[in-house]
Amino acid sequence: LIWIGVIIIGAYLLGSIPTGYLAGRILKGIDIREEGSGSTGATNVLRTIGKVPALMVLLIDAAKGAGAVALVNGVYYFIGTSVLPETWQAWLAALAGFLALIGHSKSIWIGFSGGKSVATSLGVLLAMSWLVGLGTFGVFGIVFGISRIVSLGSIAGAIAVATLMIVLREPLPYEIFGCAAGLYVIVRHRSNIERLLAGTEPKIGQKLPQEA
Ligand code: G3P
Repeated sequence: LIWIGVIIIGAYLLGSIPTGYLAGRILKGIDIREEGSGSTGATNVLRTIGKVPALMVLLIDAAKGAGAVALVNGVYYFIGTSVLPETWQAWLAALAGFLALIGHSKSIWIGFSGGKSVATSLGVLLAMSWLVGLGTFGVFGIVFGISRIVSLGSIAGAIAVATLMIVLREPLPYEIFGCAAGLYVIVRHRSNIERLLAGTEPKIGQKLPQEA
């Protein structure tokens, strides 16, 4: 049971690492939550700090998601399947992945605020299934490429995850993760959805309406 605690707390804390916030503080002396969209994600880092920091934040945030799945695999590697049944592994990976998403957007270090969990989700997906991860990234890329709006790509990707998980016949816990993570990411995009409907969501490189 102690190992389940290690997984739950470890995955949440891993997701909680406030990469984008730290980038703002260290590189520019700002609180990124008071700039642009207020998100601590890579998109807002790109908007308020720059390309290289945004890429770093994207990669580290994705690594946090992949790390949460790796944590479960690591625990199994160390303790074997006598303590935790083998059939639990995929369920625990799904749980850890989801807790990393929550950690990223509700980080204990910055007053339970954070980002929209897009990059972290991608990391979890790539660790669970390369195909689903790449497929989701592909859907994101196509929609973003056409619209030039990051949030629209993210929402399209979030919808695609569950579909891809089911079509590619991934294990049930992963399919459930796909549905839950997709929904979670969409809910995190509430303010973006309002702006998209109002036609005021900025394309990449444009300012948000209140700053323009
Ligand atoms: O990854 C988050 C992205 O979809 C939207 O970010 O800062 O434009 O709300 P932002």
